[in-house]
Amino acid sequence: MKIPVFGLLSLLFLQTYGLSFQVTPIVIESKQLAIVLQVDGEGHVGIVHFGDKLQNQDEYGKIWSQSLHNDNNDGIQNNAYTPSGTWNLVEPALTILHADGSMATDLVYKSYRKIANDNKSIDYVVSLEDPVYKTKVDLHYLVYPDQDVIEQWAEISNLIESQITLQKYASANLYLTGTSYYLRHYHGIWAQEMKPEVEELTAGIKTLDSKLGTRANLFQPPSFILGIGAVPSEDEGQVLLANLEWTGNFKIDFEKDTYDNLRLIAGISPHASAYQLNKGENFKTPALVYAYSNHGIGLASRNLHHWARKYKVFDGMGTRLTLLNNWEATYFDFNEEKLKSLFSGAKKLGVDMFLLDDGWFANKYPRNSDHSGLGDWQENKKKLPNGIPFLVKEAEKAGVKFGIWVEPEMVNPKSELYEQHPDWVIRIEDRPEVYYRNQLVLDLSNPEVQDFVFGVMDTLFSKNPSLAFIKWDCNAVIFNAHSDYLESVGKPQSHLYVDYVNGWYKVLDRVREKYPKVPMMLCSGGGGRADYKALSYFTEFWLSDNTDPIERVFIQWENSQFFPSIVSDNHITDWSKLRLKFRTDVAMMGKMGYDIVVDHLSEDELKFSQQTLKKYDELKPLIWYGDQYRLMNPWENPLASISYVSPDQTKAIMFNYAVSNRFDWTYTLKPIQLKGLAPQKTYSVKEINIFPGSRAVIDEKQRYSGEFLMKVGINPQVSQNRSSVVLEINEIK
Ligand code: GLA
Repeated sequence: MKIPVFGLLSLLFLQTYGLSFQVTPIVIESKQLAIVLQVDGEGHVGIVHFGDKLQNQDEYGKIWSQSLHNDNNDGIQNNAYTPSGTWNLVEPALTILHADGSMATDLVYKSYRKIANDNKSIDYVVSLEDPVYKTKVDLHYLVYPDQDVIEQWAEISNLIESQITLQKYASANLYLTGTSYYLRHYHGIWAQEMKPEVEELTAGIKTLDSKLGTRANLFQPPSFILGIGAVPSEDEGQVLLANLEWTGNFKIDFEKDTYDNLRLIAGISPHASAYQLNKGENFKTPALVYAYSNHGIGLASRNLHHWARKYKVFDGMGTRLTLLNNWEATYFDFNEEKLKSLFSGAKKLGVDMFLLDDGWFANKYPRNSDHSGLGDWQENKKKLPNGIPFLVKEAEKAGVKFGIWVEPEMVNPKSELYEQHPDWVIRIEDRPEVYYRNQLVLDLSNPEVQDFVFGVMDTLFSKNPSLAFIKWDCNAVIFNAHSDYLESVGKPQSHLYVDYVNGWYKVLDRVREKYPKVPMMLCSGGGGRADYKALSYFTEFWLSDNTDPIERVFIQWENSQFFPSIVSDNHITDWSKLRLKFRTDVAMMGKMGYDIVVDHLSEDELKFSQQTLKKYDELKPLIWYGDQYRLMNPWENPLASISYVSPDQTKAIMFNYAVSNRFDWTYTLKPIQLKGLAPQKTYSVKEINIFPGSRAVIDEKQRYSGEFLMKVGINPQVSQNRSSVVLEINEIK
């Protein structure tokens, strides 16, 4: 670290040499967090504080002098956007190949401005410039003070040179001082998404990344929790909870440096992605969004949920449709008659909508399995002789809305689209094709392909104006990353990964401009695309094809750390034979749906489902917009408990599930303490979602103070026979 510039004398010195740098620190403050930036004698901007904010603003200027690192050989580890090729020898945030072949970049402080966006957010912009090449970098720290959330990104502008190539271009470069850091990150594969792992970070670099191109989160999502000084816990300690808003390759590095401090560099993966900027062009990186909390993960999650609903998720404060999907009920095997009977099943059940899944299209190579037809978006005449418009009408006649599945970015080699437009496909002509789920990816860097994908949607909507819902799937990754289009326009192949994602966003911009109301589910064989940029176009996402309720408790638990329940599509299916009540209760913690044959339900099961859907209708605002409290962790206990509390603390709902069958006795020997209620209010506790023939064991006549429920708790009496228990808590005046 370099000695900071302090006082008048230093200023005089700098001005004598024609340099003039900001002497007072730049303080970026949110509700709990302060990021303090300080310019040193050479104009480099360092992060001197990232953590709890101070009451007295004036004291931020004293932080620098408390760190006595002044070794000139160690570079500047705390730089706010670390360049490479000059003074820095550690992991950079920015690497540029300049027009003259030089790889050297330096960035010095130019200016700082604060832009207030109504009462919603404040954009702190720190401008840096290379004194030799004049490349400009604006660091944006967009603070949402009410939600205590920050979005951070960089904008790199080539103002002078004929052409530069960005070899690495991170979104955010943070620096945390401390001694120990614990990373909670996630891995998985299809049907086993979001498996957490917690580890203490040791010296060196730990990387989370994806190089899959599309469906980028299949093995690892760009979401993480950092515990500062301790393993991240639900209600205690300093944590940073983050997600990279990018639906493609990413790289997030955590480097514990020689001072035991933590350098965090997050952004698009530089893997095979060097990006050229011509004179006058700029590159805006995606944002890293984070919530900092000094009261554990729970508070950070709730803040992120608020922010997401209010500012990020498409129609985040709106409503959602319950639905019946036919995927597991029929797979590819259906016809008009079969579907019509499912429509009446949907109505009988009481959901808002029927969702037609995969298999409705393609004629030359019918989509009767996942081996053919993808790309040919004309109704299959044999299965659906009267087309989609007929089905929409029939569904509406039966009293439900109609939604449809698409996967328009992908193609089966066995399709007319592939035959007609091999140049639209990401592939290498003289190499063997490599398939994922028997399909290839269309080249969305190509504007013609963007038009085609938009056209698929536009045609569906223009032929079916009352189409109520889209499930947008994405099941393949990118092998043989080569674009004929980029070659034809003289652009390097290394633009493909980035241009693909931006091409997808362009299509979605057009879809949203023309169809601003329609709810859309982001599916990617499961949570393969869950990030906050994608969710700015989608109302919800499909967490996993795995709908076993015990597995789901864990998958939903992990996702709930980052995403609010309103975006969590939870379906009741026959994947597991566990009790329907258990499956239903778990699905209720989000946006509920079904993927069953209603006629296969017993009388009691149907009655239970109908009653529960009615109750859900009443309680969904509480579940969607309430504050979520994770009360009992299923990784550490034989049961999970989660609650949602209304903002005015008059209502709450508590979900309790047995997640292990190791012990054949009562699971909850002790009460579970609630959170977020008003201590002085009086509440009743009532068991809901009771299966016909069962009875509630919780005494609903009893009254409890909020204090009692939070300090002593309530025992939901979960057991083998009562493997899921849902309690409704209401204020009694
Ligand atoms: C993916 C989705 C499923 C279903 C199938 C259809 O696997 O995750 O829900 O839509 O595709 O092929």
